[in-house]
Amino acid sequence: MLSRIRVGSGLTVVAVALAMCTAGASAAPAAGASGVGDPYYPYAGNGGYHASHYDVRLTYDPATDLLKGTTTILARTTQELSSFDLDFGLHTNSILVNNVPAKFHSDPKENGELVVVPAAPLKAGQDITVVVAYADTPSKVVIDGYTAWKKTPDGALGVDEPQNSQWWYPANDHPTDKATFDISVEVPDNVVALSNGTFQGNAKLRTGWTWWRWRSRVPETTYSTTLEVGAFQVKQATTPDGKPFITAYDPTLGESADAATASVERTPEIDGFLATQFGPYPFEAEGGVVSNGLNFALEAQTRPVYSGKFFAKGSNTSVIAHENAHQWFGDDVSLGRWSDIWLNEGFASYAEYLWAEHEGEGTAAELAQYVYDSHPADDKLWKVLPGDPGADKQFDDAVYDRGAVALQALRTRVGDDAFFKILRTWVVEHRGGAARIDDFIALSERVSGKSLRDLFTTWLFTVGKPAVGPNGSAMT
Ligand code: ARG
Ligand code: ZN
Repeated sequence: MLSRIRVGSGLTVVAVALAMCTAGASAAPAAGASGVGDPYYPYAGNGGYHASHYDVRLTYDPATDLLKGTTTILARTTQELSSFDLDFGLHTNSILVNNVPAKFHSDPKENGELVVVPAAPLKAGQDITVVVAYADTPSKVVIDGYTAWKKTPDGALGVDEPQNSQWWYPANDHPTDKATFDISVEVPDNVVALSNGTFQGNAKLRTGWTWWRWRSRVPETTYSTTLEVGAFQVKQATTPDGKPFITAYDPTLGESADAATASVERTPEIDGFLATQFGPYPFEAEGGVVSNGLNFALEAQTRPVYSGKFFAKGSNTSVIAHENAHQWFGDDVSLGRWSDIWLNEGFASYAEYLWAEHEGEGTAAELAQYVYDSHPADDKLWKVLPGDPGADKQFDDAVYDRGAVALQALRTRVGDDAFFKILRTWVVEHRGGAARIDDFIALSERVSGKSLRDLFTTWLFTVGKPAVGPNGSAMT
């Protein structure tokens, strides 16, 4: 299902390279590139500018799935621009650039690109304010064969990875361009509208409707922003260290409701444990949303979203540890390219082992060893490369499980002190930004003083079951 965004053709790469060559040249201002050059998703993000803040202000009616409003983007150009792209799939009514109407055109069904042509070319290094007004029914919008917006019986979910923002706000949609967000959504009184960060209060401007206002002050990736509308039961509390802790439960969880609550309400305890492993929790709030409207979980910054299915058989704190570990690995330190997905999923999966060990449910070494031993050499786990799985296998078990076992192998090679120092230094050096697998390998070698290329090549970039297990030959 992830094949919806075409993997790069030679032509696209040439187009990006040409755009880069002309940038800064004294010739006529160039069009901003239609992507940042991501090998898996050539149209993800855009060239020629960086966004610093989004103000997303919407009205949503669950009865009709009509979503309308404006998004105001604060950005700065990085080159002279005759035009630039936004990643967006909804019907756009008007665009202003620095308060002047701009022309725009798009073929959203093709690739989600909205091309904006300002009345006059933009200078390099110029601050710009872009106001996009739009209205559409997102559940009917198909981009490259896929619809990420999830209509539910009483609302909708704007939750997905690697793309979800195109169905509810225009953006520079790539993890390398993080920004702060104010998200405010007006919905009928019988439902709530949840998003990331801190709750800024409700506002009422007309009978029957209520605004819900949310703010994220720590830079956030676009895929990690979420919108959940529905008749959720909302709980507001405070973490032991004084942060807002907001959780929300789908009223249709039925028999799973108690198990979901018994898991998600432990989030501050779990984040407290993860902080002892990775360094301080990075954000201004904690929480969680449980919904039957999706069948996966996602590490929405400050407020992960969980499918109700994770709690169908009882409590499940593994998934809470996983999604909250992503607050460090994925949300605070984000992917340089989508091909680096191991930095998210391998690390969050390893955090599940650490949490299990803390709970007395086996050591990380034992859990990694079990994955290694229980998958014979011909198992498909060993056929996908965690370090470069391909766009259609981005969320393959190999990225998660082989990826986590790889971290145990690193731990065995460098020792506990160096291993945890590597993890913590990684967060300190890249917080608020994005980084790549090569950066992690270089850091591991720097901190441990060991040559580790062979280990990473074996565990991340070689097809086949590694001959030596994650705890060395002693345990195999
Ligand atoms: N990052 C999510 C996780 O923590 C996976 C999201 C998978 N995406 C999807 N559309 N199924 O596991
Ligand atoms: Zn994950």
